[in-house]
Amino acid sequence: MKRARAAAPGKIILFGEHAVVHGQPAVAVPLFAVQATATAEPAAPGSGLTVYAPDISQTLHAGTAASDDPYYDALIYPLDVALDALHLPAPDLTLTVHSTIPVASGLGSGAALAAALMRVLSQAYERPLTNDALNPLVYEVEKHHHGTPSGIDNTVIVYEQPVFFMRGHSPKAFTIARPFTLLVADTGHPSPTHIAVSEVRRLYESGPHRIAAVFTRIGEIAQAARQSIESGRIEALGPLMDENHALLRQLTVSSEALDRLCQAARDAGAAGAKLSGGGRGGNMIAWVDPDQAQVVADALRRAGAVRVIQTTVRQGG
Ligand code: PMV
Repeated sequence: MKRARAAAPGKIILFGEHAVVHGQPAVAVPLFAVQATATAEPAAPGSGLTVYAPDISQTLHAGTAASDDPYYDALIYPLDVALDALHLPAPDLTLTVHSTIPVASGLGSGAALAAALMRVLSQAYERPLTNDALNPLVYEVEKHHHGTPSGIDNTVIVYEQPVFFMRGHSPKAFTIARPFTLLVADTGHPSPTHIAVSEVRRLYESGPHRIAAVFTRIGEIAQAARQSIESGRIEALGPLMDENHALLRQLTVSSEALDRLCQAARDAGAAGAKLSGGGRGGNMIAWVDPDQAQVVADALRRAGAVRVIQTTVRQGG
């Protein structure tokens, strides 16, 4: 067993959330401004595998933590999945985790924490998981959290690359011809993704034709956005974001706070804005000219955003 350190970034879905669960394409990028980190320290023989999360004052022991402990799923389940996949017993090791990714807010906190924990465990064991081996394991954890995840979160977080994703197809990396600036603003209202996902499914079952048309249009927007990003026609992204947000409202996954932040961003000069991730709370994104970023960020804070991150989306992060 050796000392190790690992990290994984957050993510933002630019286009296509929810429709991606139903087979449409989506576009997502890593968000390096926030991350989960994990360190591993060899521990005394017989002391077992301990996860220490000082930010939330939690210490859990693999093997003895109850599966109904509220932190079991986030802190222990990923390790159980990795040990199982590697056919290894729980080692004598202490893992310490930190995360700056807000939970249940559409930035991929669960997938990032799982990726960092599994990476550090496999490195400490000197059996480092490749990204190709890690990705399906993080997907297993996502399934445990969400029920029917599309797989987009684990893919973008593990590979740390912009991704054009379609369920059941291998993810496609794509080129960002010209960097662009986004603001990511948090409503401060956590919202579990699995609830929004299951309610969208219920909505679909109650009116399949109408909702399938919404999914199809969201998929067309994701395709058009990818082409615009690859060809450097980034001005096209603003209107595509606005339309995608309007369609997500039809899927009932927006909220009063998300709509208010999107409108405040547009009024302050953003070229487009939409919710990002599961919705009903969590984060929204706004496409801004870098010169206007400060003005739009101030407007978002005045409209109630509890945190605004400015990020530049570019090739290779
Ligand atoms: O809220 P997040 O970051 O877990 O994003 C969810 C994205 C959805 O499309 C709503 C669900 C999924 O599995 O793709």
